[in-house]
Amino acid sequence: MGNSERIPTHIAIIMDGNGRWAKSLGKERYEGHIEGVNSVRECIKAARRNGVRYLTLYAFSTENWGRPIEEVDALMELFCKSVIAETPELVAQGVRVVMIGRRDRFSERVCSHLQQIEQDTAAGDKLTLVLAFDYSSRDEITTAVRSIAQRVASGEVKVEDICEQTVSENLYTAAIPDPDFIIRTSGECRLSNFLLWQSSYAEMYFPEVMWPDFKQEEFDKALEVYASRERRYGKL
Ligand code: FPP
Repeated sequence: MGNSERIPTHIAIIMDGNGRWAKSLGKERYEGHIEGVNSVRECIKAARRNGVRYLTLYAFSTENWGRPIEEVDALMELFCKSVIAETPELVAQGVRVVMIGRRDRFSERVCSHLQQIEQDTAAGDKLTLVLAFDYSSRDEITTAVRSIAQRVASGEVKVEDICEQTVSENLYTAAIPDPDFIIRTSGECRLSNFLLWQSSYAEMYFPEVMWPDFKQEEFDKALEVYASRERRYGKL
């Protein structure tokens, strides 16, 4: 196996443990999210340095709306502030930002920031940063099924022509290759409605470390874990 095969093309991360990290240090949960942004910055740099082409981050799930309103508002605010502040650096690093998830439940202000960052970074060709925001897999698959059903009803697609590719092409991730490696921090071993269709053959890694402590060194460690795995895709 050559070196390039040992580096995953696409890494997807469930950034978990911000709240627990903060509480363990006697801080407010919000401070965990703030430190989490520093981990995001470091992982983007580390991904780019190592030649990873796609990095997907689970930033806000459809279930996260169920958190106390203060935390939801704080997360939206932090998210907007961070993407605005980081845009020049992302552009300088050749990072293109793409959003996946629903777009119909954000305030107009949040929506326009999301659109703006996609526009401003569209020319980036070193790394695609996929931000899953108001995202969940079941919601994504349901939306895809609806859209395929509409095309069948209009006569554009025949039922017998529906195949796996049809489904893939109707997901938010249509233009993004499947993840090779899924990381969830904080020791939880679940996918929690994240990239369920796309992760069919992904390697999984569940380090104990909380997201605010997942910096470059931990990222490099994760790459070593990936490189040591043998992928067979159901073959011998
Ligand atoms: C999970 O920790 C983390 C989140 C729900 C939010 C993640 C968001 C960020 C790191 C900041 C914004 C991101 C970007 C891309 C700018 P948790 O709150 O569930 O922690 P807990 O399980 O310990 O309670």
